[in-house]
Amino acid sequence: MSADAVRFSEERLAEIDALVKRYPGPQSALMPVLYMAQEDFGYISMEAQKMVAQVLGLRLMQVREVVTFYTMFREQPCGKYLLEVCTNAGCMLNGAYELADHMCNSLGIKMGETTRDGMFTIAEVECAGACGGAPVVQVNNIYHEKATPELMDALITQVRADGGAA
Ligand code: FES
Repeated sequence: MSADAVRFSEERLAEIDALVKRYPGPQSALMPVLYMAQEDFGYISMEAQKMVAQVLGLRLMQVREVVTFYTMFREQPCGKYLLEVCTNAGCMLNGAYELADHMCNSLGIKMGETTRDGMFTIAEVECAGACGGAPVVQVNNIYHEKATPELMDALITQVRADGGAA
């Protein structure tokens, strides 16, 4: 992605402008604006972080502090389907690591990697806040509770059969 490509659209800028007005200061809008950047560009590159800082009138370090603290913000590109496996205590005790190993084997990649076709990225995440449904896997932010190797294999197979259109 070239630096020129990292620009919010006019519609997005209008949305951000309206959002900022709801808060006491522009820094309060930082997290939703970072989500917008991630949605628009797929990940939040350094160029995107600089652009967000400029749009909100913040220092780059203020943006970096948030991007690097929260695991839901990505600084690198990822696959079309992001498989986020919770491995916190509740999920770990319900087989999250075994599930993650199985998914890695099914995809032929290691944790944190993306499949060669760019379809799947698998990542380990902190508590997804759905401990009662452990183990939990989020697929592009959709929760799959009581996830099993069979369920995840079926999902991967379905996505591949649909050519990633699911
Ligand atoms: S420990 Fe996995 S959702 Fe809370």
